[in-house]
Amino acid sequence: MDKKIALLQDKIKQASLGGGQARIESQHKKGKLTARERIHFLMDEGSFEEIGMMVTHRSTDFGMEREKYLGDGVVTGYGTINGRLTYVFSQDFTVFGGSLSETHAEKICKLMDMAMKNGAPLIGLNDSGGARIQEGVVSLGGYADIFYQNVQASGVIPQLSAIMGPCAGGAVYSPAITDFILMVENTSYMFVTGPNVVKTVTHEEVTSEELGGATTHATKSGVTHFACANEIEAINHLKKLLSYMPQNCEEMAEPTPYETRDESRTSLNTFLPQNASQPYDIREIMTTVADENTFLEVHKDFAENIVVGFARLAGRSIGIVANQPAYLAGVLDSNSSTKAARFVRFCDCFNIPLLVFEDVPGFLPGTDQEWNGIITNGAKLLYAFSEATVPRITVITRKAYGGAYDVMNSKHIGADMNYAWPSAEIAVMGAKGAAEIIFKKEITAAENPEEKWLEKEKLYSDIFANPYRASERGFVDEVIEPSQTRIKLIKAFKMLENKVVNHPRKKHGNIPL
Ligand code: COA
Repeated sequence: MDKKIALLQDKIKQASLGGGQARIESQHKKGKLTARERIHFLMDEGSFEEIGMMVTHRSTDFGMEREKYLGDGVVTGYGTINGRLTYVFSQDFTVFGGSLSETHAEKICKLMDMAMKNGAPLIGLNDSGGARIQEGVVSLGGYADIFYQNVQASGVIPQLSAIMGPCAGGAVYSPAITDFILMVENTSYMFVTGPNVVKTVTHEEVTSEELGGATTHATKSGVTHFACANEIEAINHLKKLLSYMPQNCEEMAEPTPYETRDESRTSLNTFLPQNASQPYDIREIMTTVADENTFLEVHKDFAENIVVGFARLAGRSIGIVANQPAYLAGVLDSNSSTKAARFVRFCDCFNIPLLVFEDVPGFLPGTDQEWNGIITNGAKLLYAFSEATVPRITVITRKAYGGAYDVMNSKHIGADMNYAWPSAEIAVMGAKGAAEIIFKKEITAAENPEEKWLEKEKLYSDIFANPYRASERGFVDEVIEPSQTRIKLIKAFKMLENKVVNHPRKKHGNIPL
């Protein structure tokens, strides 16, 4: 028996070395952790249980039968993160560059299957040279099997992807289907075709970092939701992100203990600038209203005219969507609509109530927006809110103009409660533009057109630049003092806790894509 146990121990040791000490050192030299080190930092101490440690590839071409590594380039298993069951796969770059073989793919699919059956989140730590070139089409088949499983798991369990090395070609599509992507600056990149192919096809000279590094995807494409300074920061972000989510779509996120105290926020009564066209940072309102230090912004550097993120209110997890007057005056455009729509849908999948802060002057005009499909993209947000069945509350702080008023979680599209601050202006458009259109003849005929225009602007403004017309109709449920916002929200979300909505039976809707 001793010999048999010694053999087992030897195999475990072999597996833990992946592609060997020299390759581990080369990984460290690049400023990267190994697959197992990442798991060590991610999971609660001693909780990780590996599955499939002895799996090897079945390939025999190019002398591959002579080169086998236990685990075949991916460590898979389960454990806990802050006490919650979580499944994780971690690609091992020291084994064939973390490339995806048939068996490597099978290990990931098996894990996804278990995560779905047992209703727990799945985290993928990606560090891979893509399809295992020696295996050809079976490797491509493996990718497709993973994509298919990702789609089956979508909306059933939270799926998070951290990119900690290369992720190129077909490999990008598994993370792209998952709910959130995190990338590490300078050591990770994602692209469908790399710089060499780009140069051949489009003659553009671009580095990997410029083409698909963390900063690029966090700011330009929006592919990644978070750009992290290093791997440890990314791992800590994964843990924090997970803390706002339930285990699966049948559950609610675990609340944190909370004791009621003075919930009024008097600073909000004097927060808004005197002049309604002056910008302010909506994040200040969000953080004042939410529980202290609980706001986690998602997609921080992409489409900054809308802010989305998770927070807690009286200990309960919520998703917040807010126009950002400090950037492009908070207009809705293609990118901000897509960003917010995706976030709304995530929250709805996983029973996370939605809070909307609205200060929106409308949609961004221009050929760029029209030609890039603002109609379709704006419709995504409209659709996402309309189909969301979680508790939904809107607070109009200032402007709620035009079609954007409808889109930003209005009562008409199913918001449960709609509050407005006394500073709210709910109208088809700003008073100046409105006066110009409806009083055009009078203004042109006037002796002093400028004066007439101002007079008519004031008239329109007196009628509509307030929340009372909307509240007369019940489109606003209550006009509240800003200082009372948190109190009202805590009560209303509590009241909505058991909300049930049954949509008409259908296979699935057809969101404009
Ligand atoms: N299939 C099989 N082996 C691969 C591989 C792949 N797709 N990608 C990398 N490897 C192997 C390399 O042969 C090397 O093996 P070795 O340790 O025995 O020398 C090891 O992984 C590390 O690769 P290396 O190229 O030395 O690392 P790098 O950090 O310099 O470059 C990449 C990383 C990913 C840029 C580079 O390996 C690469 O371009 N890989 C191919 C990408 C690709 O075209 N994939 C298929 C399409 S999806």
